[in-house]
Amino acid sequence: MKAVVTGAAGFIGSHLCESLLADGHEVLGVDAFTDYYPRAAKEKNLAACRDHRSFRLVEGRLQDLDLRGVLEGAGQVFHLAAQAGVRASWGREFAQYTDHNVLATQRLLEAALPAGRPRIVYASSSSVYGDAPGLPLYQKSFGLSVVSLRYFTVYGPRQRPDMAFHRFLKAARDAEPVHVFGDGGQTRDFTYVADIVAATRAAADSGRPGGVYNVGGGERIALREVLRRIEDVTGRRLTLVREEVQKGDMRDTFADTAAARADLGFRSTVPLGEGLEHEWRWIRSQA
Ligand SMILES: NC(=O)c1ccc[n+]([C@@H]2O[C@H](COP(=O)([O-])OP(=O)(O)OC[C@H]3O[C@@H](n4cnc5c(N)ncnc54)[C@H](O)[C@@H]3O)[C@@H](O)[C@H]2O)c1
Repeated sequence: MKAVVTGAAGFIGSHLCESLLADGHEVLGVDAFTDYYPRAAKEKNLAACRDHRSFRLVEGRLQDLDLRGVLEGAGQVFHLAAQAGVRASWGREFAQYTDHNVLATQRLLEAALPAGRPRIVYASSSSVYGDAPGLPLYQKSFGLSVVSLRYFTVYGPRQRPDMAFHRFLKAARDAEPVHVFGDGGQTRDFTYVADIVAATRAAADSGRPGGVYNVGGGERIALREVLRRIEDVTGRRLTLVREEVQKGDMRDTFADTAAARADLGFRSTVPLGEGLEHEWRWIRSQA
């Protein structure tokens, strides 16, 4: 089967491409290499895929590309390209979100209509920002088969450099201070990237058209507890610097995964300590 993955050079997209290739699928990746973080990091994410004979990358923005050829013959489309994160979604940066999240999604959905209406899996967020209102519209009015996933704080090797675990583990590696936003009492439901990939693929295979599924690790953990576990995993003491709570940050998140368990057979398989060890090993390999 031909699968299209948008955001293929990103953190989650690159893992998803590898998983599809490992199961014998043909993968066409799309990525614009936006400058949210360095291209060099995204090239490293893609290295294993680029070596695979069933992988092809189309470089460009979804808003600008001629998507007919991209989508031709695709059975499944995984839409992970986006301006991720919520912290910059204010003021002058706002246009980035309407452009890369709303417009890009609308272009992809329009192009999917004449392209045999492939199954589309859309990566949304626990923050639900970027949950483009166009999705239910295209599902209901045009009969596109769209499944939406709400990922809860994803971590693991290749995690984006703006994300907390990446920053904390890098600070531990380089013996630098750790900047912590807020009092450390905020809680998150952290999800290991391999579990996210499994849920995303299951959504394409067995998700209910129009369905929206939360995908979370199932443990609600306070940030200060995470910092303690990072000290355990790295064997290093962290020097903390307290910073103001960031606009857009939620105090607590916790996924109700009942629907994902029932329809997608979702199970979280990697506990936090084990996942942190994988990410720590990767952070050290990047030095
Ligand atoms: N990482 C998380 O914890 C998390 C949580 C919730 C939701 N998500 C969502 O999952 C998706 C993937 O997140 P990620 O952490 O892998 O982010 P990422 O930034 O690593 O990957 C996104 C990729 O999309 C590409 N891209 C952005 N705009 C594009 C456009 N207009 N056209 C083509 N390519 C474009 C970027 O160059 C980047 O490589 C995003 O939709 C994000 O909002 C992620």
